[in-house]
Amino acid sequence: ASTLGASAAESGRYFGTAVAVSRLNDSAYTTILNREFNQVTAENEMKIDALQPNQGQFNYGNADRLVQHARSQGMLVRGHTLAWHSQQPGWMQNMSGTTLRNAMLNHVTQVATHFRGQIEWWDVVNEAFQDGSSGARRDSNLQRTGNDWIEAAFRAARQADPNADLCYNDYNIDNWNDAKTQAVYRMVQDFKSRGVPIDCVGLQSHFTGGSNYPSNYRTTLSSFAALGVDVHITELDIRNAPTDAYRNVVNDCLAVARCKGITVWGIRDSDSWRSSENPLLFNGSGQKKPAYDAVLTAL
Ligand code: XIL
Repeated sequence: ASTLGASAAESGRYFGTAVAVSRLNDSAYTTILNREFNQVTAENEMKIDALQPNQGQFNYGNADRLVQHARSQGMLVRGHTLAWHSQQPGWMQNMSGTTLRNAMLNHVTQVATHFRGQIEWWDVVNEAFQDGSSGARRDSNLQRTGNDWIEAAFRAARQADPNADLCYNDYNIDNWNDAKTQAVYRMVQDFKSRGVPIDCVGLQSHFTGGSNYPSNYRTTLSSFAALGVDVHITELDIRNAPTDAYRNVVNDCLAVARCKGITVWGIRDSDSWRSSENPLLFNGSGQKKPAYDAVLTAL
């Protein structure tokens, strides 16, 4: 096939992108979006601060606009993200204890209920583990409400939208030998053994080049999959967009039956949160880069 989405669909997968809703007014952007991609993730518009800027006051306008666009184009939507230490609204940042736990659970319930039936996968919890060798949870106001905050969030999400697949999403869980990867693996294994509702793991995959794309990435994908969860490459971007690294990521996903698809974290380099690194598949003029051809050929 001649586009990323259609080529991925040939093996039952999707190829998606993060979308900034404000850019839907840019026709050059929207032309590429509609032509190439069959899955979208809101880059910021479904985060906690965007959806509940004041406690009890929900702002769904931008997120609904993206969902409508996606549905009109037949694109699947990944919800990102229900519970996270970052991009919390000020009122939540200052909370702790039972008050915070209840506010977090209420947010999960309200948001998952609002979007029920429209979201294929939810990133229920994002980035809850520490980098480095500790294998520990990341310290945060949510973690300080008790170690069971993650499973509580997953149970609330399942109850609110029983048909969405529920994912744990993180970065630096790409190298199978890293303590952080092993710690997330053990959490998923524990959740599966105790019946905590989890369906998938998202590997963000923000790579800094050949240097940190690990040669055992495929082992990581297949090891998570062997626990009985799907795996998703959720936020792919690679510094300087080397063709070999992009090709390897695609081949690794295709080699693992439970790798359901790949989402790049933006369309053009100029849209990227790492724009100075030119990490995406289209240049600032919207032209296909060599990495685009490498990905399309590999798919
Ligand atoms: C980033 C967005 O791309 C930026 O626009 C925003 O300023 C900060 O967040 N991990 C995630 C994403 O899960 O939500 C982050 O997105 C990138 C890292």
